[in-house]
Parts: sequence; C-alpha cells; structure tokens
Amino acid sequence: MAKATNMHDDIMEVLLGEETIKKRVSELGRQISRDYDGKDLILVCILKGAVVFFSDLCRAIDCYAEMDFMSISSYGNSSKTSGIVRISKDMDISITGRHVLIVEDIMDSGLTLNHLTTLLKAREPASLKVVCLLDKPERRECDIVPDYVGFVIPNRFVVGYGLDCEGRYRNLPYVGVMKPEVYNG
Ligand code: IMP
Ligand code: MG
Repeated sequence: MAKATNMHDDIMEVLLGEETIKKRVSELGRQISRDYDGKDLILVCILKGAVVFFSDLCRAIDCYAEMDFMSISSYGNSSKTSGIVRISKDMDISITGRHVLIVEDIMDSGLTLNHLTTLLKAREPASLKVVCLLDKPERRECDIVPDYVGFVIPNRFVVGYGLDCEGRYRNLPYVGVMKPEVYNG
C-alpha cells in the first residue's frame, strides 16, 4: 500500500499522547533534579532517537548540568540489534570523576545500552545511570534495568517523539503504533 501523504495517517493507535508524555517527563525531571542536587551532572543524549525526549527532559531538570551528545550504531539489521556498539560520534567532555546520566529513547533487548555502559564505565565516571523514555522489559536479552523509566510499554513497534521507522516519524509529537500495512511495506 502506498504511504499516505500525511504521516499521522500511517498511525493506527496513539499509545502515549502529548499531555501524557509531558506530565511524565516533568515528573522524571523533578526526580532527577532531587537525585542530582549538588552533584556535577552531565546529561548525555544518545542521537538520534533520544533528541526529542532529551530536549524536553533537560528543561524539566533544574540542577546544574552540562549537556553532551553521542551517536552510536549497533551492528545488525534494523529489527534485530547485535548489541555490538560502534561509537560514531563520541562525547566532547571527559566523564572521568563526573556524574553521568545517559538519556535514551527506548530499551528493547537492552544489548545496546549494556554494551555502551560497559564502554563508558571504563572511563571511570563518579556514577553512571540511564534514563529511558520507554521500556519493553518483555524483550530483554541481558541483565540491565534502566535507572529511570518514563513508561513501560508492551512489545509493539512504536514511532514518534524521537523514535523512527527507517528514519521517519521522529517528529510526531506523540508515541504511536504504525498501521501494519505501512510497516510491512
Ligand atoms: P536494544 O539494543 O534492542 O535495546 O535496542 C534499542 C534501540 O532499538 C533503540 O535505541 C531504538 O533505536 C531501537 N528500537 C527498539 N524498539 C523500537 C521501537 O519500538 N521503535 C523504534 N525503534 C526501536
Ligand atoms: Mg536508538
């Protein structure tokens, strides 16, 4: 089936609406602000999926923080990650002795973040934690639990609010499930 001209028409169901996300992101921001009060925090955005979440979350945090950005790609195909991570853009700031909070869009198998946190721990940060907007615990293939989670969601492929399908839909303001006929081409 041909794709619709408007990306909203490709969505079957809105799983998390704009207001729901906004409310939860401000709760997370308050919690993180309390936990890192008086600490030397670096917020690390994992490009590209976390960019929308990151930009809202950082403005809901009111303790002092620096921002940095990393781009990683994992070997494997689009539907299955191998968990072997290649850093295609590293952070600019040294994290040694600093408190680091990784901001990610979604934890699925967990393999990507498992590998990334192992790499970053070798740089000896004072602490290293992970915040994910979405968590699909049913899909986990390794022993990793995000320190902060926006929403636990069922095992469905979602797009929007930063999450993509073949590079598109990141700019949807909500998280939705695609129509199967669009997803399957
Ligand atoms: P993991 O290594 O399996 O945890 O892979 C996590 C990555 O897979 C995320 O950063 C996303 O890029 C991608 N991913 C997993 N589930 C979805 C989804 O439902 N929609 C879009 N991307 C997803
Ligand atoms: Mg991603």
